[in-house]
Amino acid sequence: MYAIEPNDAIDVAREIAAANGYADRIEFHHARSTDVTLPERGEVLIADIGGMLPWFERAIPSIVDARRRLLAPDGVILPRRDTIWTAVVDAAEMYSRLTRGWEANEFGIDMSAARDLVVNAWARGRISEDQLLAPPRRCAGVDYANIDDPDVEMNVEWVIARAGVGHGVAAGFDRTVVEGVEISNAPDAPAHVRPTLVYEPVFFPWPRPLVLEAGDVVSLELKASLLHDEYVWAWKTQARRGNGETKGVFNQSTFLGTPLSLERFRRQARQ
Ligand SMILES: C[S@@+](CC[C@H](N)C(=O)[O-])C[C@H]1O[C@@H](n2cnc3c(N)ncnc32)[C@H](O)[C@@H]1O
Repeated sequence: MYAIEPNDAIDVAREIAAANGYADRIEFHHARSTDVTLPERGEVLIADIGGMLPWFERAIPSIVDARRRLLAPDGVILPRRDTIWTAVVDAAEMYSRLTRGWEANEFGIDMSAARDLVVNAWARGRISEDQLLAPPRRCAGVDYANIDDPDVEMNVEWVIARAGVGHGVAAGFDRTVVEGVEISNAPDAPAHVRPTLVYEPVFFPWPRPLVLEAGDVVSLELKASLLHDEYVWAWKTQARRGNGETKGVFNQSTFLGTPLSLERFRRQARQ
């Protein structure tokens, strides 16, 4: 058995293995899997290297590489697959946590430039079922035995089921670790399948809250593009009344949520 981990936490894993009598059965590699070669191919690849969503750092390219180089052709990958769910949410508290500090303006200072950044970054936080303004929609699937593309584009539309204030979209996954073993951080995940210690739903905020009525239609185009070691997330939202009248059009991206100076662009362009 091979255990591969670039973080120094691998020493704790070594100690735990030793304390349980497995020291001579596990070969530890203090490295990224992409930098490791093994003397044989494994029968099972266990990769819990994603984030709150599967598109995180270089998780997908690493799994693709390990599947090709380190796993036997008929080997098994755990987790098996993820289904991604998204929902329009009334998340006043989470939204206020993100934006309040830049809006309060207690000292008469305009700090809206920082507010523009935070509404272009995703956040994480618990969502309860009573915050959903429409039932979550399935918008993508990841089958780890077959995935090759590190990027994803999801398109989804909701008909609002009850009136409320929409603050953005929550996203999460139902994960089949192996047949019969499920975990979930989907917006409507029941408590008994929530991995409370690690994964929470992701919240993509809107630039401003939107008052929504039952029957309004909200559509979303959500894209993740891997650039070097990080994903750029882009989310385009349109909200309209049942009669087609536009209520809001938002075009957001984590690219707009990262302070990048013109000087840095110029420097990088020269490299
Ligand atoms: C989500 S955390 C693991 C969570 C842990 N399994 C748990 O349940 O608490 C992801 C870990 O994967 C490691 N990791 C990421 N990419 C890796 C790779 N290509 N090879 C080995 N480890 C990797 C990171 O260093 C990090 O420690």
